[in-house]
Formats: sequence, C-alpha cells, structure tokens
Amino acid sequence: MNRKKVAIIGSNGRLGRSLQEVCQTDHDISALTRHDLDLAWSDRKIREALDQHAQGSDVALLSAGNTNVDQCEVSPEDAEQLNVTAVSSIARWCAEREIRFINFSSDYVFDGHKDSPYTEDDPVSPLSIYGQSKADGEEATLDASDRNLVVRLTWLYGPGKPLATPDWAVDLAVKNEHLNVVSDRIGSPSYTGDMAEALFPLLFDDQTATGLLHLCNAGSCTWQEWAQFCLDSAKACGVELRTHTVDPLTMDELFGDRATRPKYTVLSTAKYEAMTGRTLPDWREPLKHYIETYVAPRFLRI
Ligand SMILES: NC(=O)c1ccc[n+]([C@@H]2O[C@H](COP(=O)([O-])OP(=O)(O)OC[C@H]3O[C@@H](n4cnc5c(N)ncnc54)[C@H](OP(=O)(O)O)[C@@H]3O)[C@@H](O)[C@H]2O)c1
Repeated sequence: MNRKKVAIIGSNGRLGRSLQEVCQTDHDISALTRHDLDLAWSDRKIREALDQHAQGSDVALLSAGNTNVDQCEVSPEDAEQLNVTAVSSIARWCAEREIRFINFSSDYVFDGHKDSPYTEDDPVSPLSIYGQSKADGEEATLDASDRNLVVRLTWLYGPGKPLATPDWAVDLAVKNEHLNVVSDRIGSPSYTGDMAEALFPLLFDDQTATGLLHLCNAGSCTWQEWAQFCLDSAKACGVELRTHTVDPLTMDELFGDRATRPKYTVLSTAKYEAMTGRTLPDWREPLKHYIETYVAPRFLRI
C-alpha cells in the first residue's frame, strides 16, 4: 500500500486516538489537537492552521467537536460554532484543495421514534441542539464536495478522556450499593477501535464511500443491559463491586439531563456491509476487551 497523508483534527479525543492508532502503521499522520486548531477560531485562523498542518493531505478526518450534549442546550452558539461553522470552514478549505474530507456525526440526528434500525435514507429529526448542530454539520460537509463522507456513530466508548460510559458504570458499582440505569433507551454500544478499523479500507475511496454512512457494533441492548454487562465483565476480572445488579430507571424518572435523548437509535450497517463485504463484531466482544484492558486494571491497582 502506498503511504498517504492523513490529517486527523481532534486527535486527543476518544475516536481521534483510535483513528491515529489504526492509520499510523500504513500512513503518515498529521495529528491536530485543540492547540493546533481550535474550532472556536475564525474562518481565517482555521484556514491558517490547516495551511500549516494539513496542506498536501490525501484525506482530512474531523473527530473534534462539541460532544457535550447537555452543554449544547446551555450554549447553542458554541454548538453552532464548533459543529457547524468550523466544519463548514474545514470542508471548504479541503474542497478548494481537492482533499477528501470525512466528518463524524451522531445517532442524535434522529428522533428515536422508529423501532427498526435507522438507515442512511431515513430523514433526520433531531430532538436536541446537539443533534441539530450535527445534522447541520453533515450538510456543510456534504455540500462542500461530492467526494466527502459523513460517518454516523452511536453510543461510542473507548480509551481517553473524558472517561467513557463503561468506566462510569463500574466506578459507580464499586462505590455504591445501588445502581439504576435507563432501561427504555435502546442502542448499540460501539468501540472506537472497531469504528476506526471499519473505516480504514474506505479512507481514500472517494468514488463509492461518499455521502452518509452508518457504523456501529452489531446487536443492540438497553442502557441498563450495557451497564450490567460492564459490571459482569469487571467482576469476572476480580474487581470488587458493592452492587452486582443494575436496576432499571425510565427516561422520565431521570433528573439532570437538559437535552432530550432519542429512545431508539440502532443504526443499520447494511450499506457498509454491501460496500465492503465486512461485518462488525457484536457489541459484547470489544466491550469485554475494553473492561479487561482499560477499566478493571484501574480498580485492581487500588
Ligand atoms: N461519544 C459518543 O457517544 C458519540 C456518539 C455518536 C457520535 N459521536 C461523534 O463522534 C465524534 C468523536 O466523538 P468522541 O466521543 O471521540 O469525542 P470526545 O472524546 O469528546 O473528543 C472530542 C474532541 O474534540 C476536541 N474539541 C472540543 N472542543 C474543541 C475545540 N473548540 N477546538 C478543537 N478541538 C475541540 C476535544 O479536545 P480536547 O481533548 O482538547 O478537549 C476532543 O479531542 C464526534 O463528532 C461526536 O459527535 C460521538
């Protein structure tokens, strides 16, 4: 394989780290952190940063953004700047230089009213400021060039900061005698490492891998089942838990969330499978590996 130049904007994030890890063996990576390119900057400053760090790239990946769903409700202008305006600047800069641009979006562009997996043809109908900003960012990406790709992801976890949902669930079970987790939200826990691996063969395919593409680990569960699997896996590693059972909680009973979350956001990966002939692993496999490798050791060291 010819080595190519890949720019990763947001290389410190969970997905950014996995993209870097998967790509760096075969390609030359330009890893941009917030220090190199702040999405809050003006169009001119973003272009200068790209001139400096991403010139000559074959593809630019954007995994940075405002990912704090509740914070977006409080500061809609931040969501707009980071997830739409800056995306548009990057997309236009790339298009002017014939650099393929891949942006990442979210299951939160949907309202969750379906009860079968969402396909790329389903209309968006976001319930939150975050979801709306991601939908607008998709449009900005795809409007800039028909060589671009938007990859929609869901229930993402992986190593890095801030700590992911599995870390949170085990931490609570170590410290508390009761743990209640939402049981009426259904999705597919998705490992950043698997998402990066799945995307890898499509990175430079600007003829067929364009437009919208859904990626997630196979199978689905409720948030409560997700947390229960985390506890079971941690326990199997020898982590001492104060509670072994996750009790149900409905979304209506939940306090503290500002943004409305969609209830059902399983994504169909049929398009990806048809395009590549590959399937993604069931959600349990990578989650067990993640708990064994990244979560349990933190508690076993104490
Ligand atoms: N997490 C999920 O469940 C989920 C689900 C579906 C889709 N997605 C999408 O997947 C993509 C990656 O998500 P993730 O979970 O990897 O996110 P993450 O771990 O929260 O990482 C976000 C990255 O964005 C960077 N960032 C934030 N504000 C910035 C700014 N003003 N300028 C430059 N960089 C900034 C952060 O930089 P610092 O390290 O400096 O803070 C961080 O590296 C995002 O597009 C997200 O919308 C996520």
